[in-house]
Amino acid sequence: MNQKILKISVPLLLVAAVAYLIFSPSRYVGYSPDQPIPFNHKIHAGDNGIDCRYCHTGVDNSAHATVPPSSTCMNCHGLGGVAAKQEHVKWLVNQYNSNKPVSWVKVHDMPDFAYFNHSRHINRGVDCSQCHGNMAENTRAEQVKSLNMGFCVDCHRENNAPNDCSTCHR
Ligand code: HEC
Ligand code: HEC
Ligand code: HEC
Ligand code: HEC
Ligand code: HEC
Repeated sequence: MNQKILKISVPLLLVAAVAYLIFSPSRYVGYSPDQPIPFNHKIHAGDNGIDCRYCHTGVDNSAHATVPPSSTCMNCHGLGGVAAKQEHVKWLVNQYNSNKPVSWVKVHDMPDFAYFNHSRHINRGVDCSQCHGNMAENTRAEQVKSLNMGFCVDCHRENNAPNDCSTCHR
C-alpha cells in the first residue's frame, strides 16, 4: 500500500471517527423501561415536595446516586400508612414484608469504559435537571439527555472542567 495515502487517510479516518462520536445522536434519549410497579416522581418530588436526596442518598458524596431500598418507602407507606389501599402500594408493602427487594430497572446506564461521578458535579452546583430534566414533573422516569461524549465534553469546555481523555476514560 502506498505510504503517502496511508499517512493522509489514517488521520482523516481518526478525525471522522471522533466527529462521529461527538455529533452522533444518542441511542438512549426517550428510554423509559416499564418498572415492576409504576413509580411516579411527580406525586413524590413534585406535588409532595420530597427532596431528591431523601431517596437518592448517594448523590452528594459518591459516584452513584443510588435507588432507595423499600425500607425508605415504608417510612410513609408502612402498614396503614399513606395510600395503603392503592393496589401498587399493597404490592410494595407485601414485597417488603416478605423480604423481597423491588427489582427496579435501570434507566440510565453508561458503558463501563466511561467514568462518571455524581458528587463531583453536585458539589460544583450542577443541578440534577441539567442531565435528567425536570424529574419533579415526570410521571415516569425517562432518559431525556443524550449523555453521550459530546454532551459531557461540551459542558466541560464551557465550565473549564478537565477535558483530557483520562478524565472520563481511565
Ligand atoms: C420517594 C423517593 C424518590 C424521590 C423523592 C425521588 N426519586 Fe428518583 N427514583 C426513585 C425510585 C424508586 C426510582 C426507580 C424507579 C424508576 O426509575 O422509576 C427512581 C429513579 C430515578 C432516576 C432514574 C434512575 C435510573 O435507573 O437511571 C432518576 C434520574 C431520578 N430518580 C432522579 C430523581 C430526581 C432528580 C429527584 C428529585 C427531583 C428524585 N429522583 C426524587 C425514588 C425517588
Ligand atoms: C452531569 C450530569 C448529571 C447530573 C448533574 C446528575 N446526574 Fe444522575 N446520572 C447521570 C449519569 C451519566 C448517570 C448514569 C450513571 C451510570 O450508569 O453509571 C446517572 C444516573 C442516575 C441515577 C441512577 C443510579 C446511579 O447512580 O447510576 C439516579 C437515581 C440519578 N442519576 C439521580 C440524580 C440526582 C437526584 C441528581 C441531582 C441531585 C443527579 N442525578 C444529577 C448524570 C447526571
Ligand atoms: C415521605 C413520604 C413518602 C415516601 C418516602 C414514599 N412515598 Fe409513595 N406516596 C406518598 C404520597 C403522599 C403519595 C400520594 C398519596 C395520595 O395521593 O393518596 C404516594 C403515593 C404512592 C403510590 C400510589 C401512586 C398512585 O398512582 O396513586 C405509590 C405506588 C407509591 N407512592 C410508591 C412509593 C415507593 C415505591 C416509594 C419508595 C421508593 C415511596 N412511594 C416512598 C408519600 C411517600
Ligand atoms: C452541566 C455541565 C456538565 C455536564 C453535562 C457534565 N459535566 Fe462533568 N463536570 C462538570 C464540572 C463543572 C466539573 C468540575 C467539578 C470540580 O471542579 O470539582 C466536572 C467534573 C467531572 C469529573 C471529575 C473530573 C476530575 O478529574 O476531577 C468527571 C469524571 C466528569 N465530570 C465526567 C462527566 C461525564 C462522563 C459526563 C457526561 C455523562 C459529564 N461529566 C457531564 C460539569 C459537567
Ligand atoms: C467529559 C467526559 C469525557 C471526556 C473528556 C472524553 N470522553 Fe470519550 N466518552 C465519554 C462518554 C460518556 C462516552 C460514552 C458515550 C455513550 O454512552 O455512547 C465516551 C465514548 C468514547 C468512545 C466510544 C467508544 C464506543 O464504542 O462507543 C471513544 C473511542 C472515546 N470516548 C474516546 C475519547 C478520547 C480519545 C477522548 C480524548 C480526546 C475522550 N474520549 C474524552 C466521555 C468522555
